[in-house]
Amino acid sequence: MTAPANTEKVRRKPLVLGNWKMNGDVATAEQLLSGLLHGERELPALLAGVEAGVCPPFPYIGLAAARLAASQFGWGAQNVAHFDNGAYTGEVSATMLRDLACTWVLIGHSERRAYFGETDAQLSTKVEFAHRAGLVPVVCVGESLAEREASKTESVLAAQINGLCTALASTNERFVIAYEPVWAIGTGLTASPEQAQQVHAFIRSRLVAGSVPGAAGARIIYGGSVKPSNAQALFGQPDVDGGLIGGASLVAADFLSICRAAALRSIR
Ligand code: 13P
Repeated sequence: MTAPANTEKVRRKPLVLGNWKMNGDVATAEQLLSGLLHGERELPALLAGVEAGVCPPFPYIGLAAARLAASQFGWGAQNVAHFDNGAYTGEVSATMLRDLACTWVLIGHSERRAYFGETDAQLSTKVEFAHRAGLVPVVCVGESLAEREASKTESVLAAQINGLCTALASTNERFVIAYEPVWAIGTGLTASPEQAQQVHAFIRSRLVAGSVPGAAGARIIYGGSVKPSNAQALFGQPDVDGGLIGGASLVAADFLSICRAAALRSIR
């Protein structure tokens, strides 16, 4: 495995995103957002050196936009259509997300791949539409437990990354990769900091091999049972540039504490 030198550590601002998944209602969304704003008021320097945001379910993105507009938090979406606007019942286009002032959009989360059969070709199209609309695609990759146990982690990730290189190369260096081992999502099992580092370095080497511009400076964030108790150790690794947080992003205090752990990385 080739681990490229981590020469651009300083330039990679840590990124922490909360993926709320299909949880909550208006009342809990309001509560969570006001918890985040309260945390920011209490500790104004909390987000210094960190980029942080939430990805609520579609119906609550407008609410997040309204509540977070004057804050340092951003917001994004959990999915986007692989079509332009038109007769695609039930879909949400990249330009609609731009209208909601989204910064990020998650693409290819393992739950989308598993439950909705999203293919590499669709994911590439999503990346291109997202970029064209001015959004930053956060492309999720990761291996299953069976694949890890069969020592296929690298071949699975290489195939996922290879399929996306052309689309990523078209984003003018505005993309993020989220490494989310499927076996660590919502299970309480976390990749060890060393396991995460090894895979993140491998992903970066595949981006370089695929001639994706900006590979060295691209943020590769980790997702899978990140908690306040393990965030600092994970973010302490040279190629772990932040986190994509599921369960813990539904508790304002936990999410804030994970943001704080990422802030420590930026002042290392
Ligand atoms: P958990 O943090 O709940 O494991 O979820 C991770 C995830 O899937 C974020 O996208």
